[in-house]
Amino acid sequence: PLSEHLDIPRVKKTTSEAEQIKHAIQKNDFLSRLDDEQISMMVELLEALDRCPGDDVIVEGSEGDSMYIVAAGELKVTQAGHVLRTLSSGDVFGELAILYNCKRTASVRAATAVRLWSIQRQKYRTIMTNKSIRKREQL
Ligand code: CMP
Repeated sequence: PLSEHLDIPRVKKTTSEAEQIKHAIQKNDFLSRLDDEQISMMVELLEALDRCPGDDVIVEGSEGDSMYIVAAGELKVTQAGHVLRTLSSGDVFGELAILYNCKRTASVRAATAVRLWSIQRQKYRTIMTNKSIRKREQL
């Protein structure tokens, strides 16, 4: 796999974890643009993160460094205290600040105990850069 050539620690996933992550990527508008190799690389690089009920995962207006996929549990997306959406297993969040280099557009708080898959901006960029390098090599 591509990530073997990169100096980034990979995190082992069970088959069912990898399948759940792939499914979440494919149903997300922006992540579904990744090709198969990029998806495999993303699956390898995602790190598990556990949070307790009431924990803030994202604070509106702050700098963003990571995006997330919900593995289990529920979270509330709020803007100025108003609940916009409940997130659950398979939902992607925190992608906007990473994509558009903006401040966090909303807060996201764990409503139950949650397990998340997270990836940092820099690792996401590496996945994208790798695609451009491969494209150039094919010319
Ligand atoms: P980001 O802006 O990085 O951090 C907050 C996240 O909340 C944002 O990315 C989206 O993933 C999510 N979010 C923001 N606005 C909405 C909305 N109106 N409905 C659902 N999710 C949202």
